[in-house]
Amino acid sequence: MKRDNFYITTPIYYPSGSPHMGHAYSSIVADVFARFKRNDNCKVFFLTGTDEHGLKIQKAAEKANLEPLIFCDKISKVFENLTKKLNLSNDDFIRTTEKRHHNSVNDLWNKLINSGDIYLSKYKGWYSVSDEAYYNDDEINEKNGKKFSTFSGSPVEWVEEESFFFKLSSWQDKLLKFYEENDKFILPLSRKNEVVNFVKKGLKDLSVSRTSFTWGIKVPNNQKHVIYVWLDALTNYLSALNYPDVSNSLFKDFWPASVHVIGKDILRFHAIYWPAFLLAAKIKPPNRVFGHGWILSGDEKMSKSRGNILNPIEIIDNYGIDELRYYLMKEVSHGSDGNISLKSLENCINSDLANNYGNLCQRIFSFIKNNCNNTVKKNHIVSEADKKLVNETETLTKDLRENMDNQNLNSYLKSVINISFLTNKYINDEEPWKLKKSDAQKMNNILHLSLVQIAKISILLNPIIPEATSKVLNALNLEKNERNISFVDGKEIFSDEIKIKELNILFKKIT
Ligand code: MSP
Repeated sequence: MKRDNFYITTPIYYPSGSPHMGHAYSSIVADVFARFKRNDNCKVFFLTGTDEHGLKIQKAAEKANLEPLIFCDKISKVFENLTKKLNLSNDDFIRTTEKRHHNSVNDLWNKLINSGDIYLSKYKGWYSVSDEAYYNDDEINEKNGKKFSTFSGSPVEWVEEESFFFKLSSWQDKLLKFYEENDKFILPLSRKNEVVNFVKKGLKDLSVSRTSFTWGIKVPNNQKHVIYVWLDALTNYLSALNYPDVSNSLFKDFWPASVHVIGKDILRFHAIYWPAFLLAAKIKPPNRVFGHGWILSGDEKMSKSRGNILNPIEIIDNYGIDELRYYLMKEVSHGSDGNISLKSLENCINSDLANNYGNLCQRIFSFIKNNCNNTVKKNHIVSEADKKLVNETETLTKDLRENMDNQNLNSYLKSVINISFLTNKYINDEEPWKLKKSDAQKMNNILHLSLVQIAKISILLNPIIPEATSKVLNALNLEKNERNISFVDGKEIFSDEIKIKELNILFKKIT
């Protein structure tokens, strides 16, 4: 059965320094949903990329003594390479310095001018270059004579300059109505409440151009101004679908976006500014903004300025990409912040991957190789223990689609790993190795069911650990088109006879 189209995005990253675990996390989260939807017969478009304009990047380029574009070419490449290292299945990688993006931003700007939502005035207030964000007086505190944003802790500077403004204030009621009518536009719900309360307090018009630096997209017909980097950056989600050509098949198939995956620190831009720009331009807002929590290291947000970074590349080189992907998805509770450390990474690899799923596959595959000439054949006698395992598995798989549709990855993973645990227990209790001489048929039935369970678990874990599960599914001789999750609708995965290939060790235990 063909299911809905699904368009998912990561934030586009500032190429101002090396990628870190926070970036890896946002990207892997989005990749897991993209892969799940593909495995569930949806047509998927998955986008990531780099956000290359604005003062933050201009300053970083100056520091590196490079022209901004040359600087961006260099670091954007590092982010693009990271997509491969993280095993992302993205369909496109967008850079905001590309022509296709400029066309799209110009068009959106003109639409906002034509709708009367943009006017020229003067900005006077606080600005954080590090966040590329404006802050109100009541969002500023002072430490040792220096001013900071209370929201992000980033330093702010006073700015006074001519600026174009977007009439955000006039969108307050319409936004509140929009949140009410689209009750899952912002997930998790706690984040939605934060946004609604912020909007209810009143919105000020938003400065959407700057005149004190040049690195950005020029305002059409006013070359003195560059477009505010967030208006520029958010538009990437349209540019990749060939906007403003709204009749092309990419745009028709995939807009509005299904989910923008972002970190909670950039919720305001995605959940307030972005739908307001789009509503003003008469373009449908995305269906969902999912704001994940932060990765913490020793209880602080992991970030370059705090110097507490665990380097994703080093971890992948030392432990493996599936290991990192699994750990981040399991350990960081999706909506809230999560502490990570090498110790808990190692514990997680040993307990869930090596001892549970890895051991389940290894013991069954090697037993079948050594005792059954790589083939098992079942008859139709079903024992009580078989029935129990099948029923328990059915119960645990019932809500999996819904969990994924609500970005509830933690519950999803918990259920799947529980199926693996129950299957290991079934094998321990049934002891097929004792039946070889006395009841070979029953032994075959047990092994057949174990392989079905391994196939189901591998299909369900595939979005999270694609490398290891592909090895298992290959060894089960399952074709790519058979590796989809339609078995949750009752479709049989195997016929009565299953032939397997050799399976090498999946996860090494860390001692
Ligand atoms: N360029 C903007 C996004 C524009 S999207 C139209 C930006 N870039 S960023 O490189 O600073 O951050 C990108 C993402 O990484 C954000 O979603 C942010 O939340 C995430 N992370 C950065 N540090 C993080 C952690 N320590 N933990 C989890 N994610 C965090 O913002």
